[in-house]
Amino acid sequence: MPTARPRILLLNASLAGDDGNTAVILTRARRRIARRATVESVTLAVPPASPSRAGSSTFTPELRAALGRADAFLFGTGTHWDSWSSVLQKFLEDATPAEGTAIWLGKPAAVVVSEHSTGGKGVLSRLQGVLVTLGCTLPPMSGLVLSRAALAAAKHDRAAARDFWCEADLGIVCHNLAEAARLTLKDARAAAPRWRHWPVDRRDFRARWIA
Ligand SMILES: Cc1cc2nc3c(=O)[nH]c(=O)nc-3n(C[C@H](O)[C@H](O)[C@H](O)COP(=O)(O)O)c2cc1C
Repeated sequence: MPTARPRILLLNASLAGDDGNTAVILTRARRRIARRATVESVTLAVPPASPSRAGSSTFTPELRAALGRADAFLFGTGTHWDSWSSVLQKFLEDATPAEGTAIWLGKPAAVVVSEHSTGGKGVLSRLQGVLVTLGCTLPPMSGLVLSRAALAAAKHDRAAARDFWCEADLGIVCHNLAEAARLTLKDARAAAPRWRHWPVDRRDFRARWIA
C-alpha cells in the first residue's frame, strides 16, 4: 500500500509578508519539507497595496480551510520588541473561536523565529505554549531561533558557534515536523489518537468581566 504523504502548512507571520527574513527561511524550509510532504503556504500579512482590512478578521474561510486540510504546521515570525509579530498576534486572537477544535487538535506544530540579537527564545517558548493550548502537539527539536548576532559571532569564533543555532538546524526542524506528521497519519490509519479538549468558552470569551 502506498504511503500517504502528509500535508504541511507553512504560516508566514512576518510583518514584512513575502519580503521579510521569515519568507527566506520558509522558502528554504519548503524545499526540505517538500521531499516528504505536500506543502501549502500562507502569508498572513495584508499586502500594503490591498484595501485596509483593519478590524476585520484574518481568520478567513480560506485560511480556516487550509488549516483544516493540514496535518501539521510550521509557523515563522520575527521578534518585535520581545514578542512575535502583531500579524501573528492578530491571527491568534482571530483564531481563538477555533481553540481545541479539529483544526488544531493533535496536529504537530514547529516554529522558526528570527531576531537581531535578543528576545527570540522567549518568543519561541511562549509561542509553543500557545500552540499546545490551541490543541497542537510539539515534535522534539522543532523550535529554532535564527539570530543575526549569532551568525555574525560565528564568523569570528567557529568553535564557540558549534553550540549556536544555525541554518543547518532548520533541516532538523523540518525533518522532525515531517516525521511527526507521518506518524500522525499512520496513527490515523491504525488507531486514531482520541485527543480530548477541556471545555472551551466559545460564546463569551470577549465579554467584559470586571463589573
Ligand atoms: C519593529 C521591530 C522590532 C524589533 N524588535 C526586535 C527585538 O526586540 N529583538 C531582536 O533581536 N530583534 C528585533 N527586531 C529585528 C527582527 O526581529 C528581525 O530583523 C527579524 O528577522 C524580522 O523578521 P521579518 O523580516 O520576517 O519581519 C525588530 C525589528 C523590527 C522591525
